[in-house]
Amino acid sequence: METLIPTINRLQEVFLTVGAEIIQLPQIVVVGTQSSGKSSVLESLVGRDFLPRGSGIVTRRPLVLQLVNVPPLKERLKSENGNGIKQNAQNSYPGIKAEEWGTFLHCKNQIFTDFQEIRKEIESETNRGTGDNKGISPDAINLKIFSPNVLNLTLVDLPGITKVPVGDQPEDIEAQVQEMILSFISNPNSLILAVSPANSDLATSDALKLAREVDPDGRRTLLVVSKLDLMDAGTDALEVLLGRVIPIRLGIIGVVNRSQHDINTQKTLQDSLKDEQAFLQRHYPSLASRAGSRYLAKTLSRLLMHHIRDCLPDLKTRVTVLSSQYQAQLNSYGQPVEDHSATLLQIVTKFASDYCNTIEGTARHIQTSELCGGARICY
Ligand code: GDP
Ligand code: NA
Ligand code: MG
Repeated sequence: METLIPTINRLQEVFLTVGAEIIQLPQIVVVGTQSSGKSSVLESLVGRDFLPRGSGIVTRRPLVLQLVNVPPLKERLKSENGNGIKQNAQNSYPGIKAEEWGTFLHCKNQIFTDFQEIRKEIESETNRGTGDNKGISPDAINLKIFSPNVLNLTLVDLPGITKVPVGDQPEDIEAQVQEMILSFISNPNSLILAVSPANSDLATSDALKLAREVDPDGRRTLLVVSKLDLMDAGTDALEVLLGRVIPIRLGIIGVVNRSQHDINTQKTLQDSLKDEQAFLQRHYPSLASRAGSRYLAKTLSRLLMHHIRDCLPDLKTRVTVLSSQYQAQLNSYGQPVEDHSATLLQIVTKFASDYCNTIEGTARHIQTSELCGGARICY
């Protein structure tokens, strides 16, 4: 059993290191109006509280969030002591005694085991990049969360679409945010999670409007209808959720996140998921099994696998071309290679060739058998 996504995540890191996003990698990007519930949706996908959320503009820089599935601590300790199942280096994380933890690209050697600290670091790093008066910046914050309880996914949280500048925001805030969003979602390997609140008209959804611009056929857009609990008395979202208002090819999933009051009174995510399910059973019994945050997580990992599968032939071609380019460059350096940049090139070349092998194996596998369990691929 292997997963394709860690390979992709590793590659992405290498490309970040060399300062170029040469290969466009699949990732899930949330898009929506300010305060539609984007950060809340991402948090429930991760299953931990760690994102700054709230009314007004809270998310002010892109956050690229890599979720990495690791074995439970007990298993990791066993394998470190040498009396357990042998694990590869990537799965062992020696010295880390936490079940779940996070790391930031901008604080290289620091392990965050307290998720409140992760939230604080996102806030401080946001301010470092944008000032503390509601400014925005396109420079991404890179965070990895390691946990036995997550699927291997890369998620991107973005500032929300906003019309009127406040604080230190530029006059053209709307255009700037749109450009930032478009730079992420125009990547054909991005799955777009368009978040639209149930208490506003879907026809005016900014999220869907932007998604349509880059994905007119709706091949990589999933609609999340948030705030089902905040609809006016006597109305419901049934028609919307059934796709009768605007059909969405990949699906429409209704969710109930925590309200501001829930956040203030520190309602746990677990309680929230339980209440969400109860709400759905009560108000949308016919849809309850196809709605909610857990169903969203499952749907996403399935879509991601399909998406990766569809991209494999093209990715493989790109990597092969890249690899031979780098190889030619490497050869022109002569031996031994000591130059720092040349070493990076070597790493990339190595990854590229490993990656090609993985892709070949995976492509063969996907053609011949079923996906098993969420985002995993069996070999
Ligand atoms: P973002 O700006 O799109 O990232 O939205 P946030 O996740 O920060 O949420 C904005 C506000 O809306 C917060 O106060 C949340 O508590 C609240 N909120 C988000 N989703 C829901 C929901 O489904 N129901 C209710 N009642 N409140 C929500
Ligand atoms: Na907000
Ligand atoms: Mg947000």
